Amino acid sequence: MVSTDRVTRARALVTGASSGIGRTFAKRLAADGYDLVLVARREERLRGLAEELEALGADCEILVADLSKPEGLSEVERRARVGDVEMLVNNAGFQTYMPFVELDPAVGEAEISVQVTAVMRLSRAVLPAMLGRRSGAIINVSSMLAFSAGLDNAFLPKRAVYAATKAFVNAFSETLASELAGTGVKVQALCPGVVRTEFHDVDGKPVLRPNVPIMEPEAVVQASLAGLELDDVVCVPALDDRGLLDDELEARRTLFGSGRGSELSPRYRKGG
Ligand SMILES: NC(=O)c1ccc[n+]([C@@H]2O[C@H](COP(=O)([O-])OP(=O)(O)OC[C@H]3O[C@@H](n4cnc5c(N)ncnc54)[C@H](OP(=O)(O)O)[C@@H]3O)[C@@H](O)[C@H]2O)c1
Repeated sequence: MVSTDRVTRARALVTGASSGIGRTFAKRLAADGYDLVLVARREERLRGLAEELEALGADCEILVADLSKPEGLSEVERRARVGDVEMLVNNAGFQTYMPFVELDPAVGEAEISVQVTAVMRLSRAVLPAMLGRRSGAIINVSSMLAFSAGLDNAFLPKRAVYAATKAFVNAFSETLASELAGTGVKVQALCPGVVRTEFHDVDGKPVLRPNVPIMEPEAVVQASLAGLELDDVVCVPALDDRGLLDDELEARRTLFGSGRGSELSPRYRKGG
């Protein structure tokens, strides 16, 4: 929590602030004493939110930008580089749940632009000033689907590109967090399960299967901010047993140690 004193208020930049988790982050951060830069494509929504947050005492800038377009991303990047952003929430995103062979490749590319390229470029833009101040936080909104590669649970959606973007977010966040250890700058990959937002709407209506556990966006944001204080690089809002994440990291360590030899494995000596 930061001071509400006008002189010392910190600024947060939230992408995808017009709806769902991003909007909830913006509201919570304004209540906690942050000024904001609100980014999304729907200007009316951003204006309405800014009015609400200004009533809470937050100074709000609006940046109407399409992060799937190079010019939109460049504009946000320019703002991120100014040097006053203390918290970056890379949240904007959308799903393309469908068989990969049916996905319009241009839409898949736009998804990668918003959920991979923008996450990388905006993180790179805010970091020099954060490192100079020796404080700051980058929250990258990922998903439990980051852990879903190769899982064939019948209830899971077809998700090759979506899951791959979120696996990028986790690998990027975890690796960057290690690189930044001791600098005062924190990085988090926030991995919710299903959250009640417009993400699941088709033609304005929710299309979630019945009985799926759904978390409210306020709980997701609460977990993320509490997780930052706990230095949780991977934050899974509904996970009680942190040991499962330790086990997963340990399995990676073992695999990494075993798979980088110079000798060809017997499995691959014949055939091909
Ligand atoms: N809801 C879930 O179950 C769930 C679960 C795990 C992870 N997530 C992740 O949570 C994040 C937020 O999603 P949400 O659930 O809050 O969905 P949402 O309510 O649909 O909000 C998505 C936000 O992203 C913005 N956005 C989408 N495309 C954009 C673009 N090209 N340029 C700029 N902004 C763009 C939207 O704004 P405009 O349309 O106004 O541009 C909107 O503000 C996403 O990264 C998503 O992958 C969601």
